[in-house]
Amino acid sequence: MNLDEVIAPVEGHIKKFRTQFKASIRSNVGLVDTIARYILMQKGKKIRPILVLLSADAAGGINQSTYHAATLVELLHTATLIHDDVVDSADVRRGLASINATWKNKIAVLMGDYLLSRGLLVSLTNQEFGFLQVSSVAVKRMSEGELLQIQKSKQLDMDEKTYFRIIADKTASLISTCCELGAVSATTDQDVIAHLRNFGEYLGMAFQIRDDVLDYRGKKATLGKPIGGDIKERKVTLPLIYAFEAAPSRKSGAVLKLLKNGKVGSKIGEVIEFAESYGGIEKAIKKADEYVTLAKRELDSIKDSAAKDSLLMLTDFVVARVN
Ligand code: IPE
Ligand code: IPE
Ligand code: MG
Ligand code: MG
Repeated sequence: MNLDEVIAPVEGHIKKFRTQFKASIRSNVGLVDTIARYILMQKGKKIRPILVLLSADAAGGINQSTYHAATLVELLHTATLIHDDVVDSADVRRGLASINATWKNKIAVLMGDYLLSRGLLVSLTNQEFGFLQVSSVAVKRMSEGELLQIQKSKQLDMDEKTYFRIIADKTASLISTCCELGAVSATTDQDVIAHLRNFGEYLGMAFQIRDDVLDYRGKKATLGKPIGGDIKERKVTLPLIYAFEAAPSRKSGAVLKLLKNGKVGSKIGEVIEFAESYGGIEKAIKKADEYVTLAKRELDSIKDSAAKDSLLMLTDFVVARVN
């Protein structure tokens, strides 16, 4: 499936978003501006601003506020990715060297802070105070999700329930915010806003499960980041959780030992093979599909439109994507 088809109803609007986004990250400080230009060169999918635009369109219509929301969420997303790559010691992002790999951790941390503040300033300068409430909750949840994940990777005692809590906080919170802010920018109908917010929350769950599946089944060339990164970082995600549940304890124990003794680097293939052979990856894919069904159901009561069709298509794209 192609993302171009999905964005057709809002294509012109994406160009306007890009212009605002560009302007929002420029700086008079040379180093900041150099990194800002590097970020603009990267090819992110722009799923979050697309969700803002489509949600607004489906809820009543795109306006100036919608662009502010789209800019805000992409700034928050970019900031958290830069921080995430420091946290995950990731050298590659979007097919290019990550900010931390190029400029080192110190600079990446501060650049992330800069983008976060620019995001909040988009709301303040444009007097979109309602956006601040929603987006601050998302930023809080994202930080908590990332921290809980670190706590669990140290303890190596992950279970399905904790995993869902982590991905809800670190990923679904922002995706839900995109749909909510898009809706808020276009309507005051609380029912419509709530359904779009819930749609985003379920979609976000499916999105992160797919991301975690791609860490096992993806191809580096299309993914734009190496596979097995989660395993290397001792992150026990859904494919592995399900494989642990299905495998005999002797086999699970051996894999757990690999993760524990910190020498998993050369044995990533074995862990992938383990998750594959005990059906962990297939079961995770099924779970993502369940979230897709829940997400789509939230749109039942939304008035039919080309934008709504696109939201439905985007939902299918999220679990079929290869990058
Ligand atoms: C990556 O998000 C971070 C996750 C929540 C898994 P995207 O896959 O949307 O990243 P870009 O913006 O397209 O690079
Ligand atoms: C994505 O998490 C970052 C956030 C949601 C804040 P991951 O660490 O799982 O995603 P990738 O693999 O780096 O894109
Ligand atoms: Mg990461
Ligand atoms: Mg991470």
